[in-house]
This record gives sequence, C-alpha cells and structure tokens, in this order.
Amino acid sequence: MKTSRDPSFHQFEQRKIDHIELALDPKHQAEGSHGLERITLLHTALPELDFSEVNLATHTLGTAVPTPFFISSMTAGHAHANKINTLLALACETRGWAMGVGSQRRELSDPEEKKNSAKLRQLAPKALLFGNIGLSQLIQTKPAAIQALVDALQAQAMIVHCNPLQECFQPEGTPFFKGGYKALDTLARHLPVPVIVKETGCGFSYATLQRLNELAIAAVDVSGLGGTHWGRIEGARSPRQHLLAQAAHTFRHWGISTVDALEAALKLHPRYEVWASGGVRSGLDAAKLLAMGATLVGYAKPILDAALKGLDELLTLMQTYEYELKVALFCTGNATLKQLRESNTWHLKTK
Ligand SMILES: Cc1cc2nc3c(=O)[nH]c(=O)nc-3n(C[C@H](O)[C@H](O)[C@H](O)COP(=O)(O)O)c2cc1C
Repeated sequence: MKTSRDPSFHQFEQRKIDHIELALDPKHQAEGSHGLERITLLHTALPELDFSEVNLATHTLGTAVPTPFFISSMTAGHAHANKINTLLALACETRGWAMGVGSQRRELSDPEEKKNSAKLRQLAPKALLFGNIGLSQLIQTKPAAIQALVDALQAQAMIVHCNPLQECFQPEGTPFFKGGYKALDTLARHLPVPVIVKETGCGFSYATLQRLNELAIAAVDVSGLGGTHWGRIEGARSPRQHLLAQAAHTFRHWGISTVDALEAALKLHPRYEVWASGGVRSGLDAAKLLAMGATLVGYAKPILDAALKGLDELLTLMQTYEYELKVALFCTGNATLKQLRESNTWHLKTK
C-alpha cells in the first residue's frame, strides 16, 4: 500500500502538479488543428422562435440531463487536486453539467484516497460523476478493484482513458497496452455501470472505433487533436537535450483531429454514444460538434484555467458556454439539440 510517506507518492504528486502547470502553458496546446474551422452553421434570419424557447436538455447513458456539457477528466490524488475537484464538483452540481474525475490510479494502492471520491459525491449529490482509470492500469487490475473506485464515488459510469503517446514520453510512463480490448470487454461485462472509453487529445481512427464497437461499452469520447497535447506536456518535463524531449518535439503534431475522429465515429453508426472533446473552446465550438451528431461535449483546459481563478470565474465561463450554445441554436432556427442534429443546418468543408 502506498501512503503519503512513500517516495513514490511524492514523485506522483509532483508529476500531477507539473501536469497542471504545463497544461496551462499555450505552448502545450495543439491549437488550430481540431478541424472546427471546417464546420459552418448556417445562419437563419427568421428563426420562428423566441430565444426563451431554446432548451439545452438532452439524454445520455439513458438519463435526462439539463445540458450536453461535461467537464473532462483532469486531476486527482493530491491536495491541490482535491481543491480543484471541489470547485469542479460544486460548479457541476450548480449548472447541471456532468463531470469526469481525474485518474483514480492512486486509490488502487491507497484506500485512504477513496475518502476524497466520497467527499466529491457529497458535494455533488445530483450531478453525473464519472470515475477514471488509464487503460494500462486497467489491464493489470481486477474488475472488482475498479468496482471499488466506482463505489467510492458512487459514479454513474466509469471512464477508461487511452494515452499511448503520453506514456511514451512520460519519464515514469507505463506504455503497456497489450490486452487492452480484452480488459475493456471484461470490465464492460462486469461493471453494473456503463463503461466509457476516451482518448486524451490524440483522437481515434475509424479502425479503432470499429473494434471498440464489438465491445459492450456505452460511449466513446473521441478527445481528438486540437487542444491539450500530452506529447508536448510530457516532453517539457524532461531536460531539453534528453531523448524524450527531442522525440516529443518530433511528435508535437501527432494525433487525429477532434472533427476527423468524430466524423469517423459517426460514419460507423456505432452502438455506443459518441462524445466529443479536444480543443473545444466555446459554446459555438460545442454547437458544431453537437450538430454533427455528438451526444455530449467536454472541456478540460479552459475549465482548469477558470477553476484556478475561483468558483465565480468558473461558473461564469460555464454560463457563457451555455449562452453561446443557445445563440447557435436560436440563430440556426432550432429550439432543441435534437432539432439541431436533425436539421442539417451545418456544412463541413472537405479538406
Ligand atoms: C491537467 C490535466 C489533467 C488531465 N488528466 C487526465 C486524466 O487523469 N484522465 C483522463 O482521462 N484525461 C485527463 N486529461 C485529458 C482531458 O480529459 C482531455 O481529454 C484533454 O485535455 C483534451 O481536452 P482539452 O483540449 O479541452 O484540454 C487531463 C487534462 C488536463 C488539462
């Protein structure tokens, strides 16, 4: 069992603090490569609606939710993370957003850590909260231990994140992904809550999405290229001359854009829900992805930025995104997200 006195704990804590600092540096964003500029929503001069009729309510994982937004998994397992997660949980409870917690890896070896998950649930009794674990940890962990992570958070779903590029450049990385599909399949069959698979900013190819469609998973968050880039972040954690830093620089544009990954997923007509994240920076960005057919849209870095400034800043940002999405619906003549999806009021430019 690892405790806060273990040297490995301090290494873990420092890594998580580095991640937060480096994620906020614009150099570590793959800005402009998400593909959102290729999508145009068509302006409707006569919407035949009052703005007050626009409604963001939708459904996900068989549950009605007031907005199609979620805060994408970020941090967990150290004191600073607990403060950030407290703000995120309170904000999600207030605004009716869903929230993915950051990797619960530490809870696997330190049962004390489960108390923090329990506290988050107390702060957000109504919100949809999703657990989180990395695929390389899942492969080495029995489903019963993952079930314990779900129980601690009373999570409505469990997210498994795929991050092969990050694991290659992380000095303490665990690039062990053999057996990934089998582990996901076993988990999806074992857990009583839905299993969601996500990337962390490098997207999914059509072939991978097709293979995931053979599993009993409930959703895929494509989390594509265009925002936070974990190759860049891990590269910055090694000295500049180190081979990891040099190789990470070579791979600084690596990944499949959010729009390309979403398009590939929707082409499949998969059994799972398709969620979109990766470089989403406004409610208008979200509207484009929802018009294409995403069920939910997630934000990570901009939410972290706002949360570090305080709860008011965070709530204002979330309200801004909601308002922008409502404007996009109104000005395309759609009162609901279902109408937006079905109205074909968007256009995708070919490359
Ligand atoms: C500081 C930070 C920590 C993150 N930690 C996790 C994590 O523990 N698990 C996970 O699935 N994704 C993690 N991510 C990835 C995000 O959930 C998201 O997929 C990615 O950042 C792309 O979204 P963005 O461009 O809006 O930041 C993290 C992101 C940030 C910014």
